Amino acid sequence: MKIVLAYSGGLDTSVILKWLTEKYKADVIAYCADVGQAEELTGLEEKARQTGASRCLVSDLREEFVRDYVFPMIRAGALYEDQYLLGTSIARPLIAKRQVEIAREVGADAVAHGATGKGNDQVRFELAFAALAPDLRVIAPWREWDLAGRADLIRYAEEHGIPVPVTTAKPYSMDRNLFHISYESGVLEDPWQPPPPDLFRLTRNPEDAPDEPETLELSFESGNCVAVNGKSFSPAALLSLLNEIGGRHGIGRVDLVENRFVGMKSRGVYECPGGTILRFAHRQIETLTLDREVMHLRDSLLPRYAELVYYGFWFSPEREFLQAAIEQSQQVVTGTVRLRLFKGALQTMGRKSPQSLYDLHLATMEADQGAYDPRDATGFIHLNALRLRTAARRQQQQA
Ligand code: ARG
Ligand code: SIN
Repeated sequence: MKIVLAYSGGLDTSVILKWLTEKYKADVIAYCADVGQAEELTGLEEKARQTGASRCLVSDLREEFVRDYVFPMIRAGALYEDQYLLGTSIARPLIAKRQVEIAREVGADAVAHGATGKGNDQVRFELAFAALAPDLRVIAPWREWDLAGRADLIRYAEEHGIPVPVTTAKPYSMDRNLFHISYESGVLEDPWQPPPPDLFRLTRNPEDAPDEPETLELSFESGNCVAVNGKSFSPAALLSLLNEIGGRHGIGRVDLVENRFVGMKSRGVYECPGGTILRFAHRQIETLTLDREVMHLRDSLLPRYAELVYYGFWFSPEREFLQAAIEQSQQVVTGTVRLRLFKGALQTMGRKSPQSLYDLHLATMEADQGAYDPRDATGFIHLNALRLRTAARRQQQQA
């Protein structure tokens, strides 16, 4: 049997790699998606082969990740439960998609992943596999073996001569990509305890951020941020730059409790500096350019869209349906916003757009130019109040 394993080089997927070769007598191809997890990739191919992989394939998916996954999600304005920018959720479908492609290329019988049996990630991987390759067998070792937890895994690794990465010393679980870092479990499990101060890697403490604010101009075209301070960047380069600038100013830390798809509540700490800036800036351009009813309707769908992404239904007819409507709204979302970053806070210092619907003649409190006649408002208010007057009269009569 030939299996393509989504492999990170960490403890879990290292043990899984070895376990698959033993349990299934399989030819295991380690596949690693580079979605911007940075330093964790060094020495990976050698490590995979030492642990029993016949091959190790690293796919650089960084541009595709930002262009085709993060940016569409920003155009939608997605936010799960009003707090989580979905950094892990949005990477899983892409990782799974490339994994399926590799499985086809090498003629594999199965794909395997290292997500536990208690979380969201297993669902996201497997819904994507189902949507893209319904015939491929899926192996989820965490739901099959009798290793119960980290201690078991470390013992298994030692018994099988698997190099245990020093990073397993971290007393929590971490997931990093170009969009965010998530921290969960271990010392973070008590939602009353604040995160340890040395946890954060992308952002400074707001109180340690520079005492001088920084002003930034972000330019959008059709809903996508394409330039920073007048300079154009590719999607991945732009997000990296915003991570660096936002991180310096302590932007984008969130400590929350979220509802997992599988049912339990879970405490998570997130750093998403560039994403926080992008989502905020995008909204500022929308305030100038989107029609009111389009905006309100789209906003009413935001929780649903975020839920779809969180639950793992990226490759689904309903997500594509919503996305198509969102794309239609974004044609006019073009313009520039000026932001001020200061000790964890974002402030708007100006916005402009060639597609602006903002009409000074209509908005001004000065003598108007004829497009809007205040006398019309009398009838407008009168008819809108009709129901209210009727209900109030009924109440008076019954009193
Ligand atoms: N709770 C977040 C989510 O479901 C983060 C998950 C982190 N995953 C991980 N394997 N560390 O999107
Ligand atoms: C995991 O359980 O594999 C990570 C957390 C999650 O998927 O929610």
